[in-house]
Amino acid sequence: MNIKNVELETVCGISSDLPQHDIIEVAFWGRSNVGKSSLLNSVWGRKNLARTSSEPGKTQTINYYNVDGVLYMVGLPGYGYAMTSRETAKKWMTMIRRYLETSQALRVVFLLIDSRHDPTEKDIEQFRLLFSLGFNPLIIATKVDKLKKNEKQKHIATIRRILTAEANKLIDGDEFDDELPVIGFSAATGEGKDDILEYLQYFKENIDV
Ligand code: GTP
Ligand code: MG
Repeated sequence: MNIKNVELETVCGISSDLPQHDIIEVAFWGRSNVGKSSLLNSVWGRKNLARTSSEPGKTQTINYYNVDGVLYMVGLPGYGYAMTSRETAKKWMTMIRRYLETSQALRVVFLLIDSRHDPTEKDIEQFRLLFSLGFNPLIIATKVDKLKKNEKQKHIATIRRILTAEANKLIDGDEFDDELPVIGFSAATGEGKDDILEYLQYFKENIDV
């Protein structure tokens, strides 16, 4: 997909009504600081339209970016940010759950996992939540520029193995054996960007609201 124009159209907080529209939404989720906002900027070829920070907990709202009037890319707040109070973390999670459960136009969720580490307990919990809500999350392993080439393949394979095992527990079959796609991505080098754009193109052409 060739992206020309991106606009931050709607920002939703804890008590906002979610917008309704007749083009699909594709959401980006993952733990705080994993690189969600950086990925969005990289895919758009924009510097800081989605605000990034080296401090976790930067994105605190559900941000709807209208991409060329053909789809919305939706940036979600991260989870697992240790410095938020338990109460605030709970409120964010309630907001995100409400979005995942009720958005009429949400069709695909990308779940971002830091490529340097195994998926955390929280990553696995959210992967399960997405599955239970009927999404087959697409996995993006972020910050691969921080790994050496041989480490990169190994880490991606481990993430795939762990989450494939989780998926198989949840679907009660072998549909996902070795097949769960994991895209290696770096906002620093642009690696994986074309893969994400290809997915977006596919969604745009093949999925309706
Ligand atoms: P929250 O909004 O807090 O949930 O975080 P986020 O997931 O949106 O992360 P963000 O994009 O703000 O990035 C967090 C930090 O990681 C920033 O310091 C980024 O510069 C850095 N970062 C993001 N992606 C990459 C990457 O691909 N490579 C490297 N080396 N650093 C990255
Ligand atoms: Mg962010």
